[in-house]
Amino acid sequence: MRPLTNIYVFASAFIFMLWNNIQPTVENEFIANYSSSLLTNVPKNIPVHTHILDLSHNRISGLSISEFISLSDLQVLNLSRNLITELDLSVFIYNEDLEYLDLSHNNILKVYCQTLANLRHLDMSFNKYTALPICQEFRNMFHLEYLGLSATVIRRSDFRYFTHLQLHTVFLTLEDFSLYEPQSLTALNTRTLHIVFAANRNFSFPLLYDGMSTSENLKIVNLRYTSSYKDFPSPHLTLLKKIKTTVLMLDTVDLQWPIILQIFLLIWYSPVEHLTVTNLTFRGPLEGLAEYDFLPLLNSLKQLISLDGSMKALTLEHVHNKVYYFNQEILYRQFSEMKIANLTIYDAYMPHMLCPNRTSSFQYVNFSHNALTDELFQNCGTLTDLKYLILQRNKFESLAKVSFMTSHMKSLKYLDMSSNLLSHDGADARCQWAESLSELDLSSNQLTDVVFECLPVNIKTLNLQNNQIASVPRGVTELKSLAELNLALNRLADLPGCSGFSSLEFLNTEMNLILTPSADFFQSCPRVRELQAGHNPFKCSCELQDFLRLERRSGGKLAGWPAAYLCEYPSALRGTQLKDFHLSELACNTALLLVTALLLTLVLVAVVAFLCIYLDVPWYVRMTWQWTQTKRRAWHSRPEGQETVLQFHAFVSYSERDALWVKNELIPNLEKGEDCVQLCQHERNFIPGKSIVENIITCIEKSYKSIFVLSPNFVQSEWCHYELYFAHHKLFSENSNSLILILLEPIPPYIIPARYHKLKALMAKRTYLEWPKERSKRALFWANLRAAISINLPTYFEANEEESDVTSTSSISQYVNN
Ligand SMILES: *[C@@H]1O[C@H](CO)[C@@H](O)[C@H](O)[C@H]1NC(C)=O
Ligand SMILES: *[C@@H]1O[C@H](CO)[C@@H](O)[C@H](O)[C@H]1NC(C)=O
Ligand SMILES: *[C@@H]1O[C@H](CO)[C@@H](O)[C@H](O)[C@H]1NC(C)=O
Ligand SMILES: *[C@@H]1O[C@H](CO)[C@@H](O)[C@H](O)[C@H]1NC(C)=O
Ligand SMILES: *[C@@H]1O[C@H](CO)[C@@H](O)[C@H](O)[C@H]1NC(C)=O
Ligand SMILES: *[C@@H]1O[C@H](CO)[C@@H](O)[C@H](O)[C@H]1NC(C)=O
Ligand SMILES: *[C@@H]1O[C@H](CO)[C@@H](O)[C@H](O)[C@H]1NC(C)=O
Repeated sequence: MRPLTNIYVFASAFIFMLWNNIQPTVENEFIANYSSSLLTNVPKNIPVHTHILDLSHNRISGLSISEFISLSDLQVLNLSRNLITELDLSVFIYNEDLEYLDLSHNNILKVYCQTLANLRHLDMSFNKYTALPICQEFRNMFHLEYLGLSATVIRRSDFRYFTHLQLHTVFLTLEDFSLYEPQSLTALNTRTLHIVFAANRNFSFPLLYDGMSTSENLKIVNLRYTSSYKDFPSPHLTLLKKIKTTVLMLDTVDLQWPIILQIFLLIWYSPVEHLTVTNLTFRGPLEGLAEYDFLPLLNSLKQLISLDGSMKALTLEHVHNKVYYFNQEILYRQFSEMKIANLTIYDAYMPHMLCPNRTSSFQYVNFSHNALTDELFQNCGTLTDLKYLILQRNKFESLAKVSFMTSHMKSLKYLDMSSNLLSHDGADARCQWAESLSELDLSSNQLTDVVFECLPVNIKTLNLQNNQIASVPRGVTELKSLAELNLALNRLADLPGCSGFSSLEFLNTEMNLILTPSADFFQSCPRVRELQAGHNPFKCSCELQDFLRLERRSGGKLAGWPAAYLCEYPSALRGTQLKDFHLSELACNTALLLVTALLLTLVLVAVVAFLCIYLDVPWYVRMTWQWTQTKRRAWHSRPEGQETVLQFHAFVSYSERDALWVKNELIPNLEKGEDCVQLCQHERNFIPGKSIVENIITCIEKSYKSIFVLSPNFVQSEWCHYELYFAHHKLFSENSNSLILILLEPIPPYIIPARYHKLKALMAKRTYLEWPKERSKRALFWANLRAAISINLPTYFEANEEESDVTSTSSISQYVNN
């Protein structure tokens, strides 16, 4: 198994490499990128029109002319980070367009020279040759601008062929450096010189001084010196006079104090205008601490510094102080009295700085990322030219004290106090700012709403991002010039108005706690050109509709719309863009909702009224109800034993004056048709000789139902008999089913005499059938009446019809059968 596995692995690796050989990453037909492809040779199949060939990060160890001969358009060749040991520049003889050649980070020991006339960029840095590969062929490379070399030994004659070339940049890496013959570098003619010393070796001071005599721009990396400062050779003054450098950058400097001071002295004396030192480590002298040893040095430095040197800008970044017992006051005094325009001391853990003794030339001071406190520059009247003051990331606490610090800085325009510990106690302190101050950065502090009581009056740009402001108090301060206000990352619950900021043009309120922004923003702030209000926890409800309307009317002034504006509440809508959130007008407008409801009610009332007035629906309803009730009752209580006694369906009682109606309407309607109703009636059924009341009782007892045709006439003339009867017999009250009242005409209550208790009770119950005036309703009336009296009578009763003379001498109209 094992040999097989090995073969498999080997084959896969081979195929992988082969595949890589064939497939450059194609971005563009003129670029062939074989970077990091595990190549051991230059691939054979490179497209012939390739302009840019990237072979970096491979394992190519040798080059041959045949590999490049076909690439006649090649302009850029990157062979950086390969394993080339011998370089014969003649392999590129047919690549006449070659301009960039990068051979850095190889193992080149030997170089065979060749003039490559069009070459502009040649990088052979980080290689292993001992003698510099300088041949007279380079003399004719007139287009050369960038030359990268590495060296262990540099001799005076090495650069002789470059003397007449106008180079732009020379990059020199000196990793295993062992020998430098002074003044070798000065033969070079270059604007920028970049020297990288080995990270673990003493740097060469002659090289530093010669570098400064060679180019205007000098950058040196890794300045270290581990032996005693006493061995450090002081610079020769004759040499100093030749210094050309104006911009000097020292990166990663790790030196003893006295050495740093000497270098500093030299630089101060030179024409250097911009000095940047980054990653600077001060160390104490190795043998014993003897401050007085370098006091003379400090004094001479002091004298120099107080002279008008060439220095304009000094930048110290990432300063580490390894000297423990050291009077920093001396140093602060030196710094504060420098006659320079720009001073940056960044990330130096500096706790203090002194006020300059005389009017200072500082225009730009950047002390970011230190340990400065409220005591800085208090009552300091000498910083009158200072325009920019940057005190980011320090330990300032009192905004009022900061304002007093600026009060004497007559020219101050820009102040950056961001990322401190600033707060303001409104009650305690008044503030006094420089009137010239127009831009103030107070972001990332601990300021609350009272900060608005302590702001410079002429401020134009104000950054209060990332504080603890919950609202912008109205009417506290008027900042008439304020054009740009950043309130992002605070605790605002609503957009601020512009009552105090009449010139506001840009407002940022992102990342606050605004649920429903007020919609009158653009009215109150007519000059605002851009409002950033995104990334707030918007509550998507009715109140937000106003804001959405505001967006529509704002004409694109809302920055970040729509992507930055998302619903947060309610949770069902979380993540929805405000753009996509809609509620109907009705759901949100209470007034509209009320009006609509009112209108609907009115329409309903109108419809009901119409139905009642024109169709008399309640009457129909009542009649239908009575009819169904009667039917139901008839069904439940079918009298069994009574039937034999009863001979009539109903007895009818009425006033003589309503006789016409009874004859023309009631009788014809009840007695017609199949279900013929037998009535005990006036002309037919009265038994003479009996008293009226007796007749009534007989008739009532032989009838299943009693019908009273009620009208004012009836009440006045007839009812007295019945009232008496009811009082004595209580018959109707026990079996009220048998009583049917027909109201022929309405009876006003006052017509009913007080003693007619029964009638009053019956009328009050409204259990009567009303005779409808409208013809159309009468069918239902009759149906109802029929239903009320319908009952199956025994058959013998059909024949039993007697004629009887009725003399109604009395006013009773009473017709009793039998
Ligand atoms: C080639 O690709 C590498 C990454 O694979 C990239 O870093 C490099 O810039 C590319 N080279 C060119 C010339 O585009
Ligand atoms: C060559 O490749 C190296 C490493 O990818 C890169 O740093 C360098 O800038 C490239 N050189 C050129 C001239 O593109
Ligand atoms: C630096 O130079 C001193 C004195 O010339 C020598 O003693 C010391 O070993 C050197 N340090 C290194 C790292 O070469
Ligand atoms: C800063 O200097 C120290 C030693 O002096 C070194 O170890 C470190 O890498 C440097 N840092 C940077 C960012 O250059
Ligand atoms: C000083 O700093 C300011 C602001 O960064 C810049 O505009 C100016 O050019 C600098 N001056 C010098 C002499 O470097
Ligand atoms: C600067 O002022 C301090 C005290 O205010 C004083 O001790 C010091 O001697 C003064 N230095 C110069 C150079 O005037
Ligand atoms: C302050 O100095 C630091 C370090 O040089 C720099 O990164 C930063 O941009 C400067 N700040 C300003 C506002 O110029």
